[in-house]
Amino acid sequence: MSDAQSPARLVILISGRGSNMQSIVQAINNAELNATVAAVISNKAQAPGLTFARDQGITTEVLSHRGFDSREEFDKALAERIDTYRPDYVILAGFMRILSADFVNHFQQRLINIHPSLLPKYKGLDTHQRALEAGDKEHGASVHFVTPELDDGPVIMQARVPVEADDTADSLAERVLRQEHKLYPAAIRQLLEASS
Ligand code: GAR
Repeated sequence: MSDAQSPARLVILISGRGSNMQSIVQAINNAELNATVAAVISNKAQAPGLTFARDQGITTEVLSHRGFDSREEFDKALAERIDTYRPDYVILAGFMRILSADFVNHFQQRLINIHPSLLPKYKGLDTHQRALEAGDKEHGASVHFVTPELDDGPVIMQARVPVEADDTADSLAERVLRQEHKLYPAAIRQLLEASS
């Protein structure tokens, strides 16, 4: 683990837009986080977030899951790539893959995810629609440690968003995402402070 002076090394995994990855990079650029992004890795070559990362001068890699016969083989290759960057933390930021137990255990206590619900509510997909259908008054996002069971690990920090009477899944998703962009850097900062 990095000491108080040296920035923590992060590897960030994305599959798409990468707006949470951007918010982490911006927090680092604003000196709000004592960290460095060693690499951004995507399983999709066309992920828009890769362009932002490259423009920032961050090392990027694409490792497509399509070339592998099994989840386990892809995850093993991915873990090997990640290890070359010697990360203190591996940050899942819209990385839309279910991860095998071996992968999760390899990065135990170092693998962090953001999920758009107030866990333990609404694990999996379509979280905003499900919160609306349940008539929830409050929704939000959670940053948590990843364990082998999907969206199940210990919560590090949550952000709460009131549900408005005229909300659609899209309007709710947009307001939750705005909170995610504050939540993820804040949760990582808390982790780094606790480990320094
Ligand atoms: C975010 O809303 C994140 O919480 C969610 O995907 C979106 C990615 O957006 N993650 C999950 O649903 C994981 N189960 P981004 O690519 O702009 O950061």
